[in-house]
Amino acid sequence: MSEKDNRMLVRKIKNGTVIDHIYAGRALHVLEILRITGEEGNIVTLAMNIDSKLMGKKDIVKIEDRELNHNEVAKIALLAPRATINIVKNYEVTEKHRIELPKIIHGVIKCTNPRCITNKEREPVTPKFIVTNDNPIELQCYYCDHEINEQDIIKQFRERDTVWS
Ligand code: CTP
Ligand code: ZN
Repeated sequence: MSEKDNRMLVRKIKNGTVIDHIYAGRALHVLEILRITGEEGNIVTLAMNIDSKLMGKKDIVKIEDRELNHNEVAKIALLAPRATINIVKNYEVTEKHRIELPKIIHGVIKCTNPRCITNKEREPVTPKFIVTNDNPIELQCYYCDHEINEQDIIKQFRERDTVWS
């Protein structure tokens, strides 16, 4: 299927956010990060494993009448580091942000080592991680060297209360 056929597969939106160039198969993780269940009422369209010149295969998520905050974009960067966030207003793309995975992650997720100083109940320190690999993502805690993998991150994004934001 060509890129043109892709455009026919998922229609253009009037207002909202298009998250494009998501690694194939990751769209559901993006919905989880954004806490989209479908019960919010806004139109959400999703395409998985569609052809992309740039990536071979990719996923796209289009959310009408919603903008993303800084923290949500930072979370998406961990699981979809090549994603593009497009803000659409009256059918036109008015802003395009190409996500970049930083080399250091501040906050966003927490260290899974319970003894880490970032998990102290009194005066906890904001978590900080060094990105040691980007696909699949691997992080190393700056304070205790503990390693965090993609599954740890996905698990945290599912558990609302434990996510550092
Ligand atoms: N899009 C949409 N509704 C609109 C405008 C754009 O759903 N009213 C989608 C397009 O289908 C595309 C993304 O938003 O998936 C970005 O649109 P655009 O910048 O026009 O496309 P490209 O130039 O192909 O983007 P890129 O360079 O990021 O690949
Ligand atoms: Zn740690």
